[in-house]
Amino acid sequence: MGADAGSGGPVYDSVLDAVGATPLVQLHRVVPAGGAPVWVKTEWANPGGSVKDRAALNMVLDAERSGALRPGGTIVEGTSGNTGIGLAMVAAARGYRAVFVVPDRTTTEKIALLRAYGAEVVPTPGLVPREDPRHVQRLAARIAADTDGGWLADQYANPANPAAHATGTGPEIWAQTGGRITHLVAGAGTGGTLTGAGSHLRSLGVQVVAADPESSRYGGGDGSPYYVEAVGHYLHPLTDSDDWPAVYDPAVAHRTERVGDGESLRTLRRLAREEGLLVGGSAGLAVAAALRVSAEAGPNGLVVAVLPDSGRIYLSKYFDDDWLTTLGFLDAGPGAAGGGDPLVRDVLEPDAPGLTVAPATATVAELRELLEPCDPLATVPVVAPRRTGETTWSAPDVLGTVSVGALAGLSPGDRIGAHAGPPPVTVGHGEYRAAADARLDAAGVAPHDPVLVLVDGRAVALRAREWLSRPGPR
Ligand SMILES: Cc1ncc(COP(=O)(O)O)c(C=O)c1O
Repeated sequence: MGADAGSGGPVYDSVLDAVGATPLVQLHRVVPAGGAPVWVKTEWANPGGSVKDRAALNMVLDAERSGALRPGGTIVEGTSGNTGIGLAMVAAARGYRAVFVVPDRTTTEKIALLRAYGAEVVPTPGLVPREDPRHVQRLAARIAADTDGGWLADQYANPANPAAHATGTGPEIWAQTGGRITHLVAGAGTGGTLTGAGSHLRSLGVQVVAADPESSRYGGGDGSPYYVEAVGHYLHPLTDSDDWPAVYDPAVAHRTERVGDGESLRTLRRLAREEGLLVGGSAGLAVAAALRVSAEAGPNGLVVAVLPDSGRIYLSKYFDDDWLTTLGFLDAGPGAAGGGDPLVRDVLEPDAPGLTVAPATATVAELRELLEPCDPLATVPVVAPRRTGETTWSAPDVLGTVSVGALAGLSPGDRIGAHAGPPPVTVGHGEYRAAADARLDAAGVAPHDPVLVLVDGRAVALRAREWLSRPGPR
């Protein structure tokens, strides 16, 4: 480390020469006692700020070599951000126009970054089925086809994406650890990093562990929405086929560690506060998995986790206490408004039955049966019609609510989805009850309006807002 310190560091002809050769940094305070050392690959040290600079550069160089991208051409991609930022940087440095289709839940900071490089941004709904013409990849492909000199980078199917990691990231890690690495831990978005670096290191005897959001399809989850961005595989409930990226080879990882959003985000906060590493959500996921692997591997192992990007572009989410608290990831601190009051979870009746939900495709007759005996005041969340096996619902799964009373006058065969009210407002289980009540009051939520209680971003109870105003235990 610090190999260039004597010379003052390298001098490059182009910013693109600075892509790759990122440092490894050892973790200290978060690693379990008796566990293997955990070293992290600091991919935010790439000049565009993420691991995707590697794939972006390699895809463009490959397209130039093959003639698919010609001088004066336009680079087009559907991307949740970092690949776009990498491609935007490469486009600016090499003189191309760039157009990016991004899902609407992409952070405003990431969109601003794309525009700062001079790129054009086309937002599109993120949660639409793959068959929808507005789907990120479909729309990007159409724009590339309709643009003179347009070239679709197509990171999900472009072999130059994993190749960047098979020839860069993987060999770098091997060399930096002097061949002592025993376990590689990485998340998979396109799967480029895991497939490329993983296949190289696996061939050298390294155990490869995929870190995956709990509900992601890659690790066997139900595909429901999660809050850690840019990794895992979400499945829209109306998508017919579950297509995985062509560049992702599931056979490369020896096993998968499935990590819930809560564990990933709490690990992320610890990395910032206890290690001085301000990193993104997928890095929190990778380290959470790496800490499990470390505990298992023991002191003779050496675990390397790939940390894809910096936390700077997530300040308004993962590092915002209000964001975390209202989604149920964090308890309000003693200094927060309402301190001393009971928390929302303290006033939830412990013996209340679990959350009953109704799929939007259920009929009125089916819902009545579900809610038998019918309490006319009962209100239930209406959820996205779903994959099998799901037992909890992420906040975005809840499409609306329906009250039993509102079903009167409907015919038994009517689908309830068409009669549901708007999605309910949400409160986190660790908010101070009075503070949550005041927040909802200020937002104009009426006393009888339904409120969804969240734990780690997932629904656990539905109550009328006035329930928050009732005196509870102290
Ligand atoms: C923050 C972040 N983490 C992880 C990944 C996943 O990397 P890969 O596409 O190589 O699987 C991405 C990809 O865009 C990303 O932006």
